[in-house]
Amino acid sequence: MIGVFDSGLGGLSALKALKQKSPRADIVYLADTARLPYGSLSPESVFLAAKSALRFFIEMGASSVLFACGTVSALALPRLQEEFSLPLYGVLSPSVSVAKSLYKGNTLGILATNATVQSRSFPLALQKELPEAKLLSVACPLFVSLVENGFADKDNPVSLAAAKYYLSPFFDTKTDALILGCTHFSWLSPVIQRLLPRTPLVDCASIAAASVPALSGRGEKLFFTTQNSSLFSATARFLLKDESVEAKEVSLPL
Ligand code: DGL
Repeated sequence: MIGVFDSGLGGLSALKALKQKSPRADIVYLADTARLPYGSLSPESVFLAAKSALRFFIEMGASSVLFACGTVSALALPRLQEEFSLPLYGVLSPSVSVAKSLYKGNTLGILATNATVQSRSFPLALQKELPEAKLLSVACPLFVSLVENGFADKDNPVSLAAAKYYLSPFFDTKTDALILGCTHFSWLSPVIQRLLPRTPLVDCASIAAASVPALSGRGEKLFFTTQNSSLFSATARFLLKDESVEAKEVSLPL
């Protein structure tokens, strides 16, 4: 069984891709909705919360964990990989590899949470691979709330207005690829692509799911949240188009 973690609904985009790749995978999904948004937390808080999530998955019997959260991947994953021996996957390294393959000498863009942008983890990883590349990072915190409220369709006027605001630095920039460095943003890729139709999007959620080795099992899915499980379940059913989603509430002590 694999554990999939995010602060909220963003990681469901990775879960969807994981199910497409391995339909028989047994998955435990945990959303730390009580502490959302992770993009507003300090690096130490993100680390402690992610470590607590990891203990929860180990107690549930998970043999690997996908941190389907750009913020955890950027701020906490290397430290967790040092402390724990089970395979831990994140969204950063696989996305950087895909962005590298799309680089043609122009700008590479990164959209992420405030905490991820402040950590500079994506630019530092890209600079190691492509020291000469021009990089442009934009923090898009409102995207997280939009997705949490189910505002994901490409014609939604509120999402379009927010996307126009955040994407404005890219309208006159020759961008080889735009990394969606937060899994929530995957749900907004139709809106983002509508405004930047010629820019390849590097969707960290589906890329991270593709980096996980194929999984087998009985196709079981369990959902847990740390707060507001009924709201999470309703929006998750809508996003995944899966009426069977019914999350249970758990507490995640630090
Ligand atoms: N979906 C997460 C990420 O990839 C967290 C967003 C948030 O809670 O701020 O960064």
